[in-house]
Amino acid sequence: MGKVIAIAAQKGGVGKSTTCVNLGIGLARKGKRVLLIDMDPQGNMSSCLGIEEPDSLKVTIVNILEKIMNDEQWEPTEGLMHQVEGVDFLPANIELAGLETTLVNVISRETILREYIDRIRSIYDYVIIDTMPSLGMLTINALVAADSVLIPVEAAYLPIKGLQQLMKTIGRVRRQLNPELQMEGILLTKVDRRTNFAKDIITLLQQAYGERVHIFQNCIPLSVRAAETSAEGKSIFLHDPKGIVAEGYQALAEEVLSRESTQCAKDHSDAL
Ligand SMILES: Nc1ncnc2c1ncn2[C@@H]1O[C@H](COP(=O)(O)OP(=O)(O)OP(=O)(O)O)[C@@H](O)[C@H]1O
Ligand SMILES: [Mg+2]
Repeated sequence: MGKVIAIAAQKGGVGKSTTCVNLGIGLARKGKRVLLIDMDPQGNMSSCLGIEEPDSLKVTIVNILEKIMNDEQWEPTEGLMHQVEGVDFLPANIELAGLETTLVNVISRETILREYIDRIRSIYDYVIIDTMPSLGMLTINALVAADSVLIPVEAAYLPIKGLQQLMKTIGRVRRQLNPELQMEGILLTKVDRRTNFAKDIITLLQQAYGERVHIFQNCIPLSVRAAETSAEGKSIFLHDPKGIVAEGYQALAEEVLSRESTQCAKDHSDAL
């Protein structure tokens, strides 16, 4: 069974979509079968994967979710696209914003995405969901469908305050809708290596959340090279393979893999 990771942060522009794409491709480079799901009507993840105009796409995640909502038949491969660097993805566009408003009146409105993922997850090792910078119904759907949440935090503002609302929402989802939801970890992004600011933020995060949440050892450095990838429609591994950001995301992929194997070993020993 594949593992499902939601990338979530209430704050905008912290590197959710960039992390979704580059962690996904980092895992694919390690031989994993990866599906990336865009749950943001801005369609940034889809753009980062080479879709020039997501709004002109005929089939997106919206069509599939609508079919599930209306109890219509759908094929597991419907709408899936393949990116040259080895990941599959399900794109989104502005129509997803309309779907979010109709979801409000739907029975089981929080579990529509989970229904989709439950049917396709056996085909993949990892399913990674990009979410939008809000904690509305689309993000709730992602948290309900996920096994774990990865939270990117930008190393440029006081992050603790911004995290409180997300942590509350995760707690509520856990209590009411998805008791199995785990924390994958907090990832520091856009770290300016010329300053010591990131170290201070890591200390603050450790104090506030370190006991409950893993804080990734690998931070993602700030680099104009990363900013360029959004417009280029390819990953950092193609755009700047030897750069510090590619190194950061590859190390993150390895850390996610090694945490998974530690967790499996722990589950195994718990079962004995
Ligand atoms: N490590 C980095 N260094 C410099 N720029 C970066 C880095 N990571 C991402 N960026 C740039 O910062 C901007 C925001 O990144 P991204 O779109 O990944 O954030 P997001 O959290 O998904 O935003 P939103 O909340 O709007 O969905 C983009 O222009 C992106 O190219
Ligand atoms: Mg985004």
